[in-house]
Amino acid sequence: MDHLVSPSILTANFANLQKDIEMLNQSDADWMHVDVMDGVFVPNISFGFAIIKQIKALAKKPLDVHLMIVDPDRYLQEFKDAGADNITVHFEACTHLNRTIQKIKELGCRAGVALNPATPVAMLDDIIEDLDMVLIMSVNPGFGAQKFLAGTYKKITDLKNMAAGRNPNLYIEIDGGVDQNNIEKLVKTGANILVAGNSVFSSSNPNKAISALKHFEKMNG
Ligand code: DX5
Ligand code: ZN
Repeated sequence: MDHLVSPSILTANFANLQKDIEMLNQSDADWMHVDVMDGVFVPNISFGFAIIKQIKALAKKPLDVHLMIVDPDRYLQEFKDAGADNITVHFEACTHLNRTIQKIKELGCRAGVALNPATPVAMLDDIIEDLDMVLIMSVNPGFGAQKFLAGTYKKITDLKNMAAGRNPNLYIEIDGGVDQNNIEKLVKTGANILVAGNSVFSSSNPNKAISALKHFEKMNG
């Protein structure tokens, strides 16, 4: 399948979010990546339900919600109600991961699990068939605009090998430091959802930056 681009609104302009959501609506973006941080699981706080509801009211594309929060089970229903289409929880934040994934599916959302850079893909061996998506963190979660970690390529290969024959339609999502220089190699290695925050929103032309990621083009600025 063609790769999907999911720009992260973490680096959008929160004083005028409407403008950036409308830009994403017009762009080649497939999903909108929504990073929720609680200041406990990660050393940063982003935003919660009120903002997500506002985004949902404007967005013409699915909301790809990435929960960097402890005990996500407490809030799954609220994230669904706020407008999440995909809900990804962190492996490291879930005590009963199987239960959490079933709950997300019962809510009618795509269910994903995110792995921190230090968590091996092998941890998903007993749940891989149940997942719609696996999000491989290619930076340590918490902040945008960090340097891409090269160990990500091996993890994509490990995940592809694990999913082969067991879950061939699995979405393999990469999050952190994705830009024009690494996207093609990531896709060739097996990634099919690419999150990009800084490389889109710090560009002088974010719309064009999204097209460049979608079509493997290089652009200046
Ligand atoms: C990091 C977030 C990412 C972040 C990616 O914790 O999960 O989604 O917004 O941003 P860039 O593309 O700037 O690394
Ligand atoms: Zn994210």
